[in-house]
Amino acid sequence: MRKNIVAGNWKMNNDTKETKSLLKDIRKGLKKVSLKNTKVIVAPSFVNLNTAVKVVGNSKIKVAAQNMCAAKSGAYTGEISADMLKSIEVRTVILGHSERRAYFGETDAVLKEKVASALNQKMKVIFCFGEELKNRKENTHFELVESQIKNVLFHLPETAWKKIVLAYEPVWAIGTGETASPEQAQEMHAFIRKIITDKFTAEIADNVSILYGGSVKPENAKEIFSKPDVDGGLIGGAALKAADFLAIIAAI
Ligand code: PGA
Repeated sequence: MRKNIVAGNWKMNNDTKETKSLLKDIRKGLKKVSLKNTKVIVAPSFVNLNTAVKVVGNSKIKVAAQNMCAAKSGAYTGEISADMLKSIEVRTVILGHSERRAYFGETDAVLKEKVASALNQKMKVIFCFGEELKNRKENTHFELVESQIKNVLFHLPETAWKKIVLAYEPVWAIGTGETASPEQAQEMHAFIRKIITDKFTAEIADNVSILYGGSVKPENAKEIFSKPDVDGGLIGGAALKAADFLAIIAAI
């Protein structure tokens, strides 16, 4: 059975003090939430990953990185490798976020390399993708999402899927306050499962968790998560407040 996941993408927010305090609050709050079949992940900035790992300790919260270099080591100024992440017990990485694509030139080709490298180095990957508003207006959003998944994931062996979580994040809904309707999310998630079934197997498609991301808030989480193919969320803004993040987790 696939897992429900609520993951907080903190982006470039929170210094070390804030990281500690937010995580302590989440940890405390989680004691009152039943986490049946639900995984909680937080992704602070690189500099605070070590702190985060220490603060979450042996609680149910897992820590993920927001990015990773495809190369194993060497002359890549400013980059972080899988080995460095694993050396501080971080074994999950978010790849393909629309902000990485838009502001840091991460193309499907770059992401294909990064995802393959992360998986080869035994990391778990939360792979993000999603259409822009113009695609939806032109009715090319299914085509676009299919190409993003195909270009990055279709060459992988079937066994890789055990280590992959998908995050559908329509770009027009990220940080805008505009959310895809639960029906729009469900429609896309069902489509994603179908293309994975067609290329791989129904079992793989059925077992992969597909998260929705884009202005998920305590007020809309329950309705979005109630859709059969939505297995949780990748949360930006609302993951920065313990009460909101906890309410979103409780909604699942
Ligand atoms: P948002 O961000 O929840 O602030 O829209 C989601 C994301 O970028 O993952």
